[in-house]
Amino acid sequence: MKLLFIGITFVAYLPLTAQVQTAAQQTKMNAFVSSLMSKMTVDEKIGQLNLLTGGEATTGSVVSTDVESKIKKGQVGGIFSMASVGRIRKTQELAVTQTRLKIPIIFGMDVIHGYKTLFPIPLGLSCTWDMELIEASARIAAIEATADGLNWTFSPMVDITRDPRWGRVSEGSGEDPYLGSAIAKAMVKGYQGSDLSAPNTLMSCVKHFALYGAGEGGRDYNTTDMSRVRMYNEYLAPYKAAIDAGVGSIMTSFNEIDGIPASGNRWLLTDLLRKQWGFKGLVVSDYTSINEMTDHGMGDLQTCAALALKAGMDMDMVGEGFLTTLKQSLQEGKVTQKAIDDACRKILEAKYRLGLFDDPYRYCDSDRAASEIFTAAHLQKARETAAQSFVLLKNQNNLLPLKKNGAIALVGPLADAKENMTGTWSVSADFSKAISLLTGLQNAAGNAAKILYAKGSNLTEDSLLEQRATMFGKSLGRDKRSDSALLKEALSIAAQSDVIIAALGEAAEMSGESAGRTNIDIPDVQKKLLKALVKTGKPVVLVLFTGRPLTLVWEQQHVPAILNTWFGGTEAGNAIADVLFGDVNPSGKLTATFPQNVGQIPLYYNHKNTGRPLPEGQWFQKFRSNYLDVSNDPLYPFGFGLSYTNFSYSNVTLSSTMLRPNQKITASVVVTNTGDRSGKETVQLYIRDMVGSITRPVKELKGFQKIELEPGESKKVEFTISVNDLKFYNSNLQYVAEPGDFKIFIGTNSRDVKEIDFKLLPL
Ligand code: BGC
Repeated sequence: MKLLFIGITFVAYLPLTAQVQTAAQQTKMNAFVSSLMSKMTVDEKIGQLNLLTGGEATTGSVVSTDVESKIKKGQVGGIFSMASVGRIRKTQELAVTQTRLKIPIIFGMDVIHGYKTLFPIPLGLSCTWDMELIEASARIAAIEATADGLNWTFSPMVDITRDPRWGRVSEGSGEDPYLGSAIAKAMVKGYQGSDLSAPNTLMSCVKHFALYGAGEGGRDYNTTDMSRVRMYNEYLAPYKAAIDAGVGSIMTSFNEIDGIPASGNRWLLTDLLRKQWGFKGLVVSDYTSINEMTDHGMGDLQTCAALALKAGMDMDMVGEGFLTTLKQSLQEGKVTQKAIDDACRKILEAKYRLGLFDDPYRYCDSDRAASEIFTAAHLQKARETAAQSFVLLKNQNNLLPLKKNGAIALVGPLADAKENMTGTWSVSADFSKAISLLTGLQNAAGNAAKILYAKGSNLTEDSLLEQRATMFGKSLGRDKRSDSALLKEALSIAAQSDVIIAALGEAAEMSGESAGRTNIDIPDVQKKLLKALVKTGKPVVLVLFTGRPLTLVWEQQHVPAILNTWFGGTEAGNAIADVLFGDVNPSGKLTATFPQNVGQIPLYYNHKNTGRPLPEGQWFQKFRSNYLDVSNDPLYPFGFGLSYTNFSYSNVTLSSTMLRPNQKITASVVVTNTGDRSGKETVQLYIRDMVGSITRPVKELKGFQKIELEPGESKKVEFTISVNDLKFYNSNLQYVAEPGDFKIFIGTNSRDVKEIDFKLLPL
């Protein structure tokens, strides 16, 4: 029988920022809300639970109607997808002048990767591994969104996913719970700042609770099913991290958990969220997710709305299930007055914390938009952040960086396609301000190099996909010319150039919500173009745009340089030019594994060993856990990313090879820049628990440090390891560390590491 070090399963609610209300503030808020609620009728209380869409962006299949008259009747607690100070002020006026109790409305929006100044998509942002930059991007998004009248954002999305077929992989931070937790915390801090009632901070909403990234087959909204042990150890941490950081609200997910849709799952919303984690904020449904419980097979709308309320849901997004059925359910004894009161209280508390009762127009300063949106400082930060998010996947014979001279052929349907190369989900975007790659290269090259441009191909040969993209008002910009004419033009400029930059990949609408793909190659028509360009014998740099890991085996074999730029936001074009010409040395590291082919999915670095692991370095053995036709290796592992310089790692040293639970040990490596330019490196620490009461992953990220080294410079990088880094949830869901053997790995990615052993001793 092993000894266990049992930690507190989940620490109590301790927000990190100054949003912690003092006892006196809390008493004041409670008194205010109680007094207001004592004046409210049941209808007015139910009205507060209703969240409608202002219809400026369609993010679901139902659009709210009669919004104005519902506001006047006191039937609206919040509105989302409505922007501009003018419109929001007018709407707020309805609530505070034409309703009996003058309760202000809360205004939300999906501010996902920046508001007007767009930053890289979240998956790209995560590849910076730079929490200060990530927090700053959320801070800027909050400044711009509040300058436009908003006070609530449906971000961050922290769903762990191991499936690049799922389109929403673009909206999250990849596959790792440790990194995902750090990012969740940085985003919440950035949005909410230290004072939620400040006119330039937004209430954050962490989503989608829970396990939305684990849908079967990567198909959106699909069933999830997993053990509690896996849930606790591998999927829940980032939601919890956002809560510990003081997030004001949480959104439920569309999927079911243990056979019960999340929006009506009492274990999830009450036992775990409220009781175990101590969450005190507001729980909102996803778009019509309460109504969708009917399709899940839970009953009619009245039944589902009652189930959701009883489960712990506070606010109903768009579906109006609460609005139309709760009173009847109350009269029929199917829900209690207390349940309605509890939900209403959460919404009023959120409004109170945002300062809306002091001043309902707090976020309606009509001067701010002109001076605080698209500022030079915001654009500069977006450019810097985008450059840090790019991942250099290959750079044979140091083809990159390019020199600013001679003739450069820029070819590809994403080279001059502002809308399709900037971001996946940017409802508030003004694409006219975006810098395309063509413009970025021209800005950077000036008169020093000649930039020749040809589109080369359409984005896809698939007309169905085009139709589907245009269903959301996007255009894939199909060219009237034939494929062969486009190709001919590309080859002719290639012939006149010294180097070719191929700007290829996915269009914006090929990832994001409801954009699953079973084939995650670069679309055929673009691949044909790439093959023709490579065949010219000229050096080719593939600049990749994508919202998900793609399968790039041919590209890795045949294209000399590959720079993955995701969707880099407003300044993408300038930032890519910065990196291509070497003004910025790339340092991004992947946060999601790139598989060789779709059949390997799910493929992730922190997998289990199995009882029949493949011996290292091999790719097939009979009766081992492997495939006949492809090795178990990813194409690019988690944490991978090259630089224009090289870093060497010393062996790992430990301050002690024995760790007692009340002590700490230090693991160190010396990292040296052995190249000829300065560069940033993210040094990664992984741990493996060699023997456990449940099976443990072959590696788990437990630390990282991003350092900068001048040529020839060395730095000692130290990680402190305590018993807390060794804890996991055992089969009784106790958070424990078990004495025994451990391995530490430190390296430049999850595959290329140096290792050392240590032991955790009993107390
Ligand atoms: C998405 C959410 C989003 C909501 C409101 C839903 O379809 O799943 O992430 O916040 O729409 O736009």
